[in-house]
Parts: sequence; C-alpha cells; structure tokens
Amino acid sequence: MPHPGFCLWLTGLPSAGKTTIGSELLPLLRARGWNVELLDGDEVRRGLSADLGFDRAAREAHAARVTYIAKLLARNGVIPIVALISPYARSRARARAEIGRFVEVHVTTPIEICEQRDVKGLYRRARAGELREMTGVDDPYEVPERPEIRVDTAGVTPRQSAEYVLRELERLGWPFDGTDSPRSR
Ligand SMILES: Nc1ncnc2c1ncn2[C@@H]1O[C@H](COP(=O)(O)OP(=O)(O)OP(=O)(O)O)[C@@H](O)[C@H]1O
Ligand SMILES: [Mg+2]
Repeated sequence: MPHPGFCLWLTGLPSAGKTTIGSELLPLLRARGWNVELLDGDEVRRGLSADLGFDRAAREAHAARVTYIAKLLARNGVIPIVALISPYARSRARARAEIGRFVEVHVTTPIEICEQRDVKGLYRRARAGELREMTGVDDPYEVPERPEIRVDTAGVTPRQSAEYVLRELERLGWPFDGTDSPRSR
C-alpha cells in the first residue's frame, strides 16, 4: 500500500467559506508535494447525489457518499479536502470513524456574516419563505464540539484563512512529507 494521506473535512454554515478556503488550500498543499482533491458538496451533488434532497436522511446519505470517496483517496496517499456543510454531528462522526486519518475544520464564520455574504442568495430566499430546509435558518447546524481546527474568516482574506489552517496542521503534527505518522494521534 502507498503511504496514507489524510482527510481535511471543512464544515460550517452556508457562505461560511468552505469552498473558498478549500480552493485556496489546493495549491498550498500541492506545493508541498501532496496530491490533493477537492470534494465540494455542491459538485458531488451535481454528480453523484443528484437524486438527493435536503432532509435529514438525504443530507446524511450525501455525507456518507462523500465519506466513501474521501476514504478511498486518503488511503491512497491523497489529501481529500471536503467542503461540505455537514450539519449533523453524527455524519461527521461517521466520517471520522470510517476514514480514520481525519482532521475536522470548523469554519466558524457567524451566521450574521454568512447571511451578509449570501453567496448563492439562499438566506434571502429562506427568509422570504421561498426555500425550506436551509441550514442555519429552518434546519439545524450542530456546532462541532471538538474540531481539530477552528477557523474564522471575518476580517481576513481567504488566503490568510488557508495559511492559518496549514499552520494549524503543522502545529498538530500532520506530516507534510507524506511519510510520518502525526505526532498528536
Ligand atoms: N477569509 C475568508 N475565507 C473564506 N471566504 C471568505 C473570506 N473572506 C471573505 N470570504 C468570502 O466569503 C464567501 C464564502 O463563500 P463560499 O462559497 O466559500 O462558502 P461555503 O462555505 O462554501 O458555502 P456553501 O455551503 O453555500 O457552499 C466568498 O464570497 C468569499 O470570497
Ligand atoms: Mg461551498
């Protein structure tokens, strides 16, 4: 078997910055010699999860599919960066258990700021009653209790947030030459 990678799992509210930080991390990790793949919730939905809606069972099934792909990648030396709201603690715990080498990154951007950004206009539509099952509005977001990394995005650039995640990974002892086991686990 090749040396394993590890999964970087970004969770947070809509418009928190998961996709943006994940994209910023790609070149930073590649520059360190890693093979990296971004598994973005929206993209996987368009591809593999087009059959799923947004109720609890569907969100859990979607997370389970992403988990499966991430597991295959991580055990083959890739760093899958997952950018997925993943609002349920149970889905995240399952991902952690299944993948094993797992770094949970909570993008903690407060809802007021997410709502100001409203990248896809979903908060506006949810507040107007045009959209249901919107995480943070009429669907729960279960805040991670013990993520490895917390990253806020208010008042800093996406690049700064990505560099912060990288520094935290180093501080936690995750390997960047792909050979060592992390010191902390
Ligand atoms: N430091 C930062 N890190 C990340 N995003 C930031 C930061 N500062 C501002 N932003 C902006 O916040 C927005 C985040 O949107 P993004 O699509 O990444 O959110 P998301 O968490 O992927 O949301 P969704 O769950 O709806 O896909 C972007 O417009 C981005 O430019
Ligand atoms: Mg996104």
